[in-house]
Amino acid sequence: MKVLVVGGAGYIGSHMVKMLLAEGHEVITFDNLSSGHRDAVLGGEFFLGDLAGQAELDAVFVQHRPDAVMHFASFIQVGESVRRPDMYYRNNFSNTLNLLDAMVAHDVKHFIFSSTAAVFGEPDYVPIDEAHPNRPVNPYGRSKWMVEQILADYDHAFGLKSVCLRYFNAAGADPDGLLGERHDPETHLIPLILQAASGRRPEIQVFGRDYDTPDGTCIRDYIHIVDLCAAHLLALQHLIGGGASERFNLGNGSGFSVQQVIDTVEKVTGSKVIVVDGPRRAGDPARLVADSTRARAQLGWEPMFADLEAIVAHAWAWERKFSGDCLFRSANSQRKTRTSWNVTDQLNGIKATKIVAQEYVEIFEHIHEICRNSGEAHRIIEQLVERLKL
Ligand code: UFG
Repeated sequence: MKVLVVGGAGYIGSHMVKMLLAEGHEVITFDNLSSGHRDAVLGGEFFLGDLAGQAELDAVFVQHRPDAVMHFASFIQVGESVRRPDMYYRNNFSNTLNLLDAMVAHDVKHFIFSSTAAVFGEPDYVPIDEAHPNRPVNPYGRSKWMVEQILADYDHAFGLKSVCLRYFNAAGADPDGLLGERHDPETHLIPLILQAASGRRPEIQVFGRDYDTPDGTCIRDYIHIVDLCAAHLLALQHLIGGGASERFNLGNGSGFSVQQVIDTVEKVTGSKVIVVDGPRRAGDPARLVADSTRARAQLGWEPMFADLEAIVAHAWAWERKFSGDCLFRSANSQRKTRTSWNVTDQLNGIKATKIVAQEYVEIFEHIHEICRNSGEAHRIIEQLVERLKL
């Protein structure tokens, strides 16, 4: 099948492209690269385009004639949506309308939509099933809920069949280590704690310890990115098989507090993370846990990586790889502009045993300099030595 993946260069979209290709589908990624990364698209066709541009949309449909569309392109920060509702309604709502109109115009009838737990707002009960009332409390959640509502009308009027997947907390990374989370700025809990563990940031701030939960920190339902993508494949099969439009909540059904996530990261990484207690973040419900009974029953969905340690372990493998890459790039570019470096005692062992080229010595010295306060230099350098096969 030919699938148009809108936003396929982003975190979830890129994992989806990889999975679709592995399953033998033809994939066309449509992305404006505003936050995605071209090198995260591991195969298929790439079309640089923006949902705001009708001509670009027409071109991709005419050129590729997809059988189905998966839509991942949206802004995702709740706080930003409160400050800039205009951006969220334009990108998440209005641009999605453009996409749906292009689908109607080009007679494409199958649509998988990335929705969110934020369509529920402050929950009346947990775990949250699909019967829970929709009362989003911020423009981000409202923009997604508005799309969900118009999808029902587009089905009625145009026969466009859709599945809305309400993600709880997407996390983890490609188990093969090729892809992972690369948001800029990063706002999500797990990658932020991992960056604190790898030394890319000094600490993690806990947003509130006075919630009505056992340890006072917020509880979330973390779902592995691979399990999330697997649900999309099943949703696609559902629609292609003639299934009706549906909405599914996607999570593991077990909640973990912010403190439990920090503890898990420390266990998986073997690093102590510096934790700073901060005030509550506006708009954070105390608990968000999914009831995914419907997805399990109707789609036959079964998470493979429900265990938080597995989610964190995959994300940690990515963070180690990515933080090494970042430091290498930064050190390498600065190396070109600097003329002298201080040789540190700590590097002597590595120099004596493994490194021969002077330029690597300089790069590693610089890494040691920027990591001095985190105690991470040796770990990162060893990782680089291994990756560069020195
Ligand atoms: N948190 C911290 N410190 C941080 C970052 C987060 O304590 O530095 C806490 C948050 O307050 C929250 C939990 O960690 O309690 C998880 O926060 P995330 O930002 O990782 O995720 P959210 O639950 O806020 O948001 C996720 C998605 C949104 C979606 C929302 C639906 O990222 O896109 O779930 O509830 F809208």
